[in-house]
Amino acid sequence: MRAAIITSSDSGYAGEREDLSGPVIRELLEENGYEVVHSILLPDDRKMLAKEMARIADEGVAELLLTTGGTGFSPRDCMPEATADIVERPAPGIPEAIRAYSMTITPRAMLSRAAAGIRKSTLIINLPGSPKAVRESLEYILPALGHGLEILTGTASDCAGK
Ligand code: MTE
Repeated sequence: MRAAIITSSDSGYAGEREDLSGPVIRELLEENGYEVVHSILLPDDRKMLAKEMARIADEGVAELLLTTGGTGFSPRDCMPEATADIVERPAPGIPEAIRAYSMTITPRAMLSRAAAGIRKSTLIINLPGSPKAVRESLEYILPALGHGLEILTGTASDCAGK
């Protein structure tokens, strides 16, 4: 499966802060057999984020699109809104699962407003912004993601035995 990564960070985009979370996503994806075909750093700008997410799905760039950052309460955080702007079918179980698991690590997990959904044949999932949160969240969902992507792309047709 092909994967794309979007990092949402004003300070990263301005060159004031290094993006540490995008590389953690890449590392975990590659360890799990995904081909990372696209990675981009954008500011916390709802229109820019939505446009790039829609492009990745509409041009069939990747089956999985993971985002990091912009899910919290800062006035500029808008990743869930940008995601909702462009998804055709929400997939709330994934962020619910991430938050439920993450709450066993830190009560602050409830502060992530992350969303997920499907546009065309691309599954889009928001992850929180810190490298620690990215690793914890992604390691937890990766075992189930492959099956979802197989169903989405038609390479598996049922859930027998799972
Ligand atoms: N989830 C996990 N697994 N581990 C964490 O350390 N940090 C939380 C939360 N989710 C955290 C987590 C914190 S402190 C915040 S503010 C929110 O994610 C939102 O993060 P973001 O604004 O960087 O996207």
